[in-house]
Amino acid sequence: MRIGIAGLGTVGAGVVQLLHANADLITARAGQPITVAAVSARDRKRDRFLPANPMEWVDDAVQLATMPGLDAVVELIGGSDGPALQLVRASLQNGRPVVTANKALLAVHGATLPRTAPLAFEAAVAGGIPVIKALREGLAANRITRVAGILNGTCNYILTAMREQKRDFADVLAEAQALGYAEADPATDIDGVDAAHKLAILAALAFGHPVRFDAVYVEGIRQISALDIAFAEELGYRIKLLGIARRTDAGVEARVHPCLVPQNAPIARVDGVFNAVVAEGDAVGRVMLEGRGAGAGPTASAVVADLIDLARGRLTPVWGQDTPADDAVVPIGQHLGAYYLRLMVIDKPGVIADVAAILRDHGVSLESLLQHGRSPGESVPVVLVTHEVREHAMRAAADAIAALPAVLEAPALIRIEPG
Ligand code: NDP
Ligand code: HSE
Repeated sequence: MRIGIAGLGTVGAGVVQLLHANADLITARAGQPITVAAVSARDRKRDRFLPANPMEWVDDAVQLATMPGLDAVVELIGGSDGPALQLVRASLQNGRPVVTANKALLAVHGATLPRTAPLAFEAAVAGGIPVIKALREGLAANRITRVAGILNGTCNYILTAMREQKRDFADVLAEAQALGYAEADPATDIDGVDAAHKLAILAALAFGHPVRFDAVYVEGIRQISALDIAFAEELGYRIKLLGIARRTDAGVEARVHPCLVPQNAPIARVDGVFNAVVAEGDAVGRVMLEGRGAGAGPTASAVVADLIDLARGRLTPVWGQDTPADDAVVPIGQHLGAYYLRLMVIDKPGVIADVAAILRDHGVSLESLLQHGRSPGESVPVVLVTHEVREHAMRAAADAIAALPAVLEAPALIRIEPG
């Protein structure tokens, strides 16, 4: 099988190296050799330390869609639009199979891509974890009720180092970028957008149709402070950025945000660049997969697995079924859950009574309240943990509390999830 690769960055170079390093084994599993016949990137002169194979260089990546003699195209440029989208569309329209790691493109355009050739994207979600195959094929007999996961390696790496090593956010982010984990624009990682792209794909596989990407609720990790990480630890939780898609009576919930997860939940112990996905099916119960979610080796592992499937002719419909289902996405205000609320207040009599009165007026019931030490007349943190309540009520209460004169800064509000 002769392939053309567009993009020779972290993932593209990793794919070329893996195909070379494991050539014998890959040939045996694919039933034929997989040869990189053509490549394209922006800078032809850059030394990429690739094995010296006779690969043709193509200046315009989109030409790989129609270049004679290729059996498949591997798109590893990135970005939801631009040359990546042009190449994927043109290849599929030309009947040429595509393998991509591009979750942004799939989340935004997945529903409208031509169905005229196979499209494989194992690397697009959770890097080296074979979660697409697991959901679409291994769990195909199940009605999936919930899929949740740590879907961004960069964020998990940052949250882990902040907790374990008490390091600064910016310092750890720079390290994740140097290791090749972060997106070209790391704001995509830390603002939760990358995880939301992956969640939209998982939801599509779980529920049989792409969810509208702009209906996914997204919050990132910029607001997570060392103080909240420490309080979470004291309360028996860890803070993780989770993507959660859940079937409810009202429709499908699809949301990405930081969560407090009980320390004894398996997903709470998934640290560093590792990702994990939990799927709940009506027949199988709960399944959890864990592995490296970013980096050259793990991502190349998933891309090459797709190439082997193509070589063997193993094909499934893109979203697992031919006839798309249709579920509405439930607004975040309808979410029912427990919350962690951290306030900075002036330490003086009556403040907690005022806060409690607002919670009472909004129907929010408290599970616990935490305040350490005394600093009369000065600022102290107060942490409240609620019982289950609708998000619109919780937010209205938090807004009213923020307006109290004794509350000195915007409250930190973090959802609590079972994991
Ligand atoms: P990089 O930024 O490391 O590499 C991008 C590559 O695309 C570079 O080689 C660049 O060329 C090339 N490129 C950019 N524009 C063009 C163009 N117009 N025509 C041809 N080539 C172009 O990205 P990654 O390898 O990290 O990511 C690639 C894809 O894989 C993205 O979709 C990303 O989301 C996804 N992904 C990444 C993971 C990771 O861990 N990094 C994990 C899972 C998915 P040049 O080198 O000359 O600048
Ligand atoms: N930037 C992504 C992450 C790469 O950190 O998880 C893997 O998709």
